[in-house]
Amino acid sequence: MKLLIDTDPGVDDALAILMALDEPAAEVVALTVAAGNVGLHHTVANALRVLEVVGARVPVFAGCATPLVRPAADAAFVHGTDGFGDAGLPPPQGQASAEHAALAMLRLSREHAGALTFVMLGPLTNLALALKLDPGLPARVPRLVVMGGALTGRGNVDRLPVEFNLGFDPEAAHVVFEAWPGLELVDWEATLDHALPLDRFQAWLAAGDRRARWYGAISRKTRDFMASTPHRGEWVAADALAMLVALEPDAVDQAVERPVAIELDGRLTRGATIVDWDRRGSFPGRARLVRRLRAERFAARVARALGAG
Ligand code: BDR
Ligand code: CA
Repeated sequence: MKLLIDTDPGVDDALAILMALDEPAAEVVALTVAAGNVGLHHTVANALRVLEVVGARVPVFAGCATPLVRPAADAAFVHGTDGFGDAGLPPPQGQASAEHAALAMLRLSREHAGALTFVMLGPLTNLALALKLDPGLPARVPRLVVMGGALTGRGNVDRLPVEFNLGFDPEAAHVVFEAWPGLELVDWEATLDHALPLDRFQAWLAAGDRRARWYGAISRKTRDFMASTPHRGEWVAADALAMLVALEPDAVDQAVERPVAIELDGRLTRGATIVDWDRRGSFPGRARLVRRLRAERFAARVARALGAG
């Protein structure tokens, strides 16, 4: 399995990347980096930092610093102003490659034609740009797994029915959902349904190896946030759940295919995922919506990625 991971690290992004790097059967061919949780200079540095924790040699490509059309608010209140919990980490030693993320996506899709899984853990800006440059991209990439959306309107940003990744760059989401047949969507509601008990998660942090110690430091603020929000007592890790779907397709117990469109105009709904549950409309897009996963597979993989499995 070959993965290209597009990401805006981000505390849950880091866990997802650790999961991918921990899987012997998976080769991570690149991290392409988006702005989202925090600004691009932070997300690029954080992508490099995750790789350095495990000594992984994976190229990092910086992408777009802003959404395609309108500016958007970040999620520093969840992830810290540097995206990694303001834990005082030293700067990374490596640096990003000179090639733009969108161009790296296109090049790698040709070099590994028919073999790559794209795993999208942040706003879809880089992928939308790549698709506009080369609409033939989906034909070369057999799987696209996206973390984003809120299928029945239980979102996680100020516009209540909207999820962060798609709400950060709705136009990019629109481009991707229209153009990509059969993308696999792991939404915020599935994430809530598969939250891990916070005390169990903290026990893994205490029992694991140096990855756990590092992750314990960068996740401290987010764990405090989780303890004090409606998620009280749960560890909600959206990107990690999407990575489980990428790594273990057979961990999905229930999924349905439906057309999905992205709301671009609504005052209260801009960026919302509109699902044609009863197939009454004429949206061109069609996505595989993941609803239920094997919770124990998720727990086992997260624990293993922290060295506590
Ligand atoms: C998504 O938003 C970000 O804050 C997380 O990293 C995740 O990708 C969840 O809505
Ligand atoms: Ca993310």
